[in-house]
Amino acid sequence: MKSVTLSTLQAYKRAGETFSSLTAYDASFAHAAAAAGIEVLLVGDSLGMVLQGHTSTLPVTLDDICYHTRCVARAKGASMLMADLPFMSNATTERMLNDAAALMRAGAEIVKVEGEAWMAEGVRELTRRGVPVCAHLGLTPQTVHQLGGYKVQGRDAEQANAILADARALVEAGASIILLECVPASLGRAVTEALDVPVIGIGAGPDTDGQILVMHDILGVTHGRTPRFVKNYMTEAQDIAGAFSRFHEDVKARRFPTAEHSF
Ligand code: KIV
Repeated sequence: MKSVTLSTLQAYKRAGETFSSLTAYDASFAHAAAAAGIEVLLVGDSLGMVLQGHTSTLPVTLDDICYHTRCVARAKGASMLMADLPFMSNATTERMLNDAAALMRAGAEIVKVEGEAWMAEGVRELTRRGVPVCAHLGLTPQTVHQLGGYKVQGRDAEQANAILADARALVEAGASIILLECVPASLGRAVTEALDVPVIGIGAGPDTDGQILVMHDILGVTHGRTPRFVKNYMTEAQDIAGAFSRFHEDVKARRFPTAEHSF
């Protein structure tokens, strides 16, 4: 398979073709996900919850993400490698630049950052220096304490308009991808239609350009409450490779997510 790049994802968007994305934190699972054809691997700060056992992503450090990015980079195959800027990396533009540089040195090909239009300057400066940015909007887990829990965002018109305006501003500043988490399907569709750049959804309905899930969730090994947008693919697959392939094929055929997984 040819390496997946931003141009690949942009071409998918123009052609109306979806793509799959999955979190990965180590070489073995990254290899299996890449072999299944998953287009984008994310070293997410969700590692704080699924690997480290924290109740939020806040304790995850830049060193943690760099370590796991190096592991995944060695086995990523043709997949594109995205890595998360951890909590407070967006505190200042200078910090964003330094932290993003560490992730890119570790092997990331694009960095993801949580935050709204106020971080446009940081996104602009990263983009100017050749670091592609994915801006994460909607439910931003790093602000869980301010949000009052892991709740669906953008339910009323005012909130939905604010998310759309933030997405436009961040794309204007240079963001190459928008990631939308836990928003109504109608808002997922509206943002996807409004923007020229690919939009990846998690709990954002069936109409976003790409779909992402946390690897442990599709393997059914996450403990605690399972969010509505998750599908456990181990119930219909023989093994982990089969679960990754089914997820990828379902996304490509727009069989996942359905209304059952959407808000
Ligand atoms: O950290 C992560 O895994 C994420 C996904 C939930 C999109 O940001």
